Amino acid sequence: MALAIRFHDEQFPDSEENDLRAEILQGFASAPKRTPPKFFYDRRGSELFEQICLQPEYYPTRTEESILREAAGEIAEIAGPGASLIELGSGASRKVRLLLEALRPSSYLGIDISRDFLLSSTHRLGADYPWLDVHAACADFTRPMHLPGSFIGEHPLAFFPGSSIGNFDPKDAEVFLRNLHDLLPAGGGLLIGVDLVKDKRILEAAYNDRAGVTAAFNLNLLWRIRDELDSDIQPSRFAHRAFFNEAHSRIEMHLASPRAQTLRIEGERYDFIPGETLHTENSYKYSREGFQRLAGRAGFEPVRVWTDEKELFSVHYMRRV
Ligand SMILES: C[S@@+](CC[C@H](N)C(=O)[O-])C[C@H]1O[C@@H](n2cnc3c(N)ncnc32)[C@H](O)[C@@H]1O
Repeated sequence: MALAIRFHDEQFPDSEENDLRAEILQGFASAPKRTPPKFFYDRRGSELFEQICLQPEYYPTRTEESILREAAGEIAEIAGPGASLIELGSGASRKVRLLLEALRPSSYLGIDISRDFLLSSTHRLGADYPWLDVHAACADFTRPMHLPGSFIGEHPLAFFPGSSIGNFDPKDAEVFLRNLHDLLPAGGGLLIGVDLVKDKRILEAAYNDRAGVTAAFNLNLLWRIRDELDSDIQPSRFAHRAFFNEAHSRIEMHLASPRAQTLRIEGERYDFIPGETLHTENSYKYSREGFQRLAGRAGFEPVRVWTDEKELFSVHYMRRV
């Protein structure tokens, strides 16, 4: 059987330089200690994220999916047929399925840092949509990307769901969007999911599900360090913490060390005082207008925004100016 997808690694040389060792050592050495969220996503991390999406407390996925389901026709009308669809952080390539029949893109490129997961997800997509020209590329979207012109085409639509934009600090989000702006031709589309500011109890419940899946996802980072680097780190000596920081309008995820401990990674020694944390992720929450202002500074103008009835989540269609 012919391959249902085409995998493009060679065109993304940066993707091989995704240096877990250097960035983890740098993060543990910084004060306060922190690590980039992209390292959550090995295969196990990607699988855990899919389980998070199914938790009753985790409203973002089901809300964004219901918005996309309802808005698919309008999205397709704005984008027009035959777009080259480029999904950033495509993960399971699940949400895009809600758009494909209406949108009828000419091609799909899934970009993700989690290589094995990306490959199996895009293979499934290619098998389920034989009319679609499916491509995959393992790359780090926090680095400047150089997409070959053939992917961009004349009529590109970048799709960035999951409120992954919230994982960037606002200044970095602007830089990321500016890079995306520079990749797209004038008039190119951006369909982006953005989580909205809301009651702190709803937010905190979403990141502290009762089944403990988000905790396992957070702790998976430490298992990964143990498995892939030379380290005596003991995940059982850390605890998941997630809370809303109102001053910064963000959920913060941490791994807290309740007791003093010393651990080693690649020959370096790191001390934790009691209660000290490793800051593993931020998830910024925006108002509709706040996000439009940010994207506007990066060169995108609003075309249309959809939200759910409870105004939990937003999906913006924006145009590259
Ligand atoms: C929050 S999940 C969202 C997954 C999916 N798009 C969704 O909306 O359900 C973030 C996705 O982005 C990928 N990712 C995270 N950081 C990345 C990076 N720096 N470069 C490329 N992909 C990244 C992860 O592997 C994961 O699939």
